[in-house]
Amino acid sequence: MTQDRIADGARRDFFRTMAGMATLLALAAKIGMIGSGRMGGTLGAAWVKAGHPVMFSSRHPETLKDMVAGLGPLAQAGTPAEAIAFADVVVLVVPYAAEKQIGQDFGAALASKVLVMDVSNPSVPRDGEIGAWAREKGAALATMELMPGIHLVRAFNAVGYTSVRDHAAAAGHFGVPLAGEDAAAIAVASTLARDAGYEPVLVGPLAMGKYLIPGTPLAGQHTPEEIRQIAAGLK
Ligand SMILES: NC(=O)c1ccc[n+]([C@@H]2O[C@H](COP(=O)([O-])OP(=O)(O)OC[C@H]3O[C@@H](n4cnc5c(N)ncnc54)[C@H](OP(=O)(O)O)[C@@H]3O)[C@@H](O)[C@H]2O)c1
Repeated sequence: MTQDRIADGARRDFFRTMAGMATLLALAAKIGMIGSGRMGGTLGAAWVKAGHPVMFSSRHPETLKDMVAGLGPLAQAGTPAEAIAFADVVVLVVPYAAEKQIGQDFGAALASKVLVMDVSNPSVPRDGEIGAWAREKGAALATMELMPGIHLVRAFNAVGYTSVRDHAAAAGHFGVPLAGEDAAAIAVASTLARDAGYEPVLVGPLAMGKYLIPGTPLAGQHTPEEIRQIAAGLK
């Protein structure tokens, strides 16, 4: 066996171990939701139902009191700073323009998390200049500039919150495309996708994040096989 082959094997073993550890972590991951509106509230509720402790956040956490009371003891409410401090995994579900400030305020803490899942989408009418810049650059690559060093996976970007809410009960039929590069982050995101009732389909590295926004062929609900077929035509 050549040195290269040994190195390849060691690298594969390393990533398998990392992914295995990440999957174990994901089973009990504490989740911090940055954004607890229509989509953040829906996804967070699905993860509470799957057994995860979830801190929902708002700049006005008192507005989340009734929601968390209805979800039971695994759910709590806090500020974005409290949710980030609480969490193993942070999920961003905010108007995209807010990511600039979130990166400035919490960048170092976010970079320490095994996974930052970004569900947010850049939209020019809503997010203005930063939305146009992120759409041009590709949403995941743009987020990496705003939050350097995070272990990013884009997921759940182009499926409506009502579909996620209704689908969580009928788990397993639809897939959800993921884009990411960090093996441990992808493993944790995959477990969380399953816990929300979807089969995760890794469509490629962060550069593929430009397709994980509404209005692209990957948007909407598809079976895992359909996602693979669509993604294969999008390079
Ligand atoms: N709605 C969907 O079906 C859907 C589906 C996929 C992806 N998305 C994407 O998910 C994101 C959120 O959409 P949404 O429909 O859930 O919006 P939404 O109902 O308006 O909720 C937005 C949330 O973002 C929080 N937020 C806003 N600015 C913030 C800031 N500077 N710092 C911290 N939190 C901030 C708000 O919290 P406060 O209480 O502090 O204001 C609120 O909880 C968007 O990027 C959207 O494109 C939405």
